[in-house]
Amino acid sequence: MNSGAPPKAFVVGWPIAQSRSPLIHRYWLQKYEIAGSYDAIAVEPDRISAFLAGFGDDGFVGGNVTIPHKTAAFNAADETDDTARFLNAVNTLWREGDRLCGTNTDVCGFLQNLDETAPGWADDPGAATILGAGGAARAVAYGLIGRGFAPVRIVNRTISRAGELAALFGPPATAHSFKELAGLLGDTALLVNATSLGMINHDPLDIDLASLPLDALVTDIVYVPVETGLLAAAARRGNPTVDGLGMLLHQAVPGFQKWFGVRPQVDQRLRARLLADIGAAG
Ligand code: ATR
Repeated sequence: MNSGAPPKAFVVGWPIAQSRSPLIHRYWLQKYEIAGSYDAIAVEPDRISAFLAGFGDDGFVGGNVTIPHKTAAFNAADETDDTARFLNAVNTLWREGDRLCGTNTDVCGFLQNLDETAPGWADDPGAATILGAGGAARAVAYGLIGRGFAPVRIVNRTISRAGELAALFGPPATAHSFKELAGLLGDTALLVNATSLGMINHDPLDIDLASLPLDALVTDIVYVPVETGLLAAAARRGNPTVDGLGMLLHQAVPGFQKWFGVRPQVDQRLRARLLADIGAAG
């Protein structure tokens, strides 16, 4: 480790230009007057193992890992926690002595966003319906089952993927096709979009919310745009909604604390900066 020098952290991915992590961490470095740095680094898949093995030599204390390197980061870490092991994916790396430690902060980011934005949302957990069966859906299902939601319905275009994900969890989780959605929404307390549908430059998420109870909470992991078609449709009929930008902000907190020694606040100015960057301000 580069003792005495200002701590340096990174976000690594391929591609990396779309990452908003530098905006978040540089905001906090400035806010807390920390002499450190945070840089986006593009690393191709065939070079990621070497990068992860050697970043300490370049003076980095750790960093974030994004698509498509989260499994490589999991494999590179000497120590991981239960969440990272369950997800088989690491998005946050730091060093403890000569050990490389890794965790996955997507689960706590998802939960903390709801804790802050919709207080009491999990006080009396009922049925949850998750759209999607990829890595994001896996993190969401893990978090919701941990908070006691049951049943947790996993609805996916490719039913075999939904089945595989539900089988990982066992009983609270069940697998479904989109054809079953109208029936499932009838007693849903929490609806989560964990597909890429509704994201800019992707297909829209086209579902009928008619059977969803009006007090069901609706949230989306998509944050570009911040108000997705799903959230707009839910809000129009009176459902409470939480957007996905807060998940992005909250998942960044643990890494900053590890690298720079301060637990940062997700404040309104940071959110406003991200909104402006995404083009949704005002
Ligand atoms: P991530 O790890 O970010 O969740 P992923 O593993 O590629 O990414 O998963 C994307 C999710 O969006 C999947 O649930 C995918 O459905 P399939 O498993 O059937 O591919 C869903 N998805 C993406 N495009 C879709 C589309 N046009 N229609 C329905 N679902 C779609």
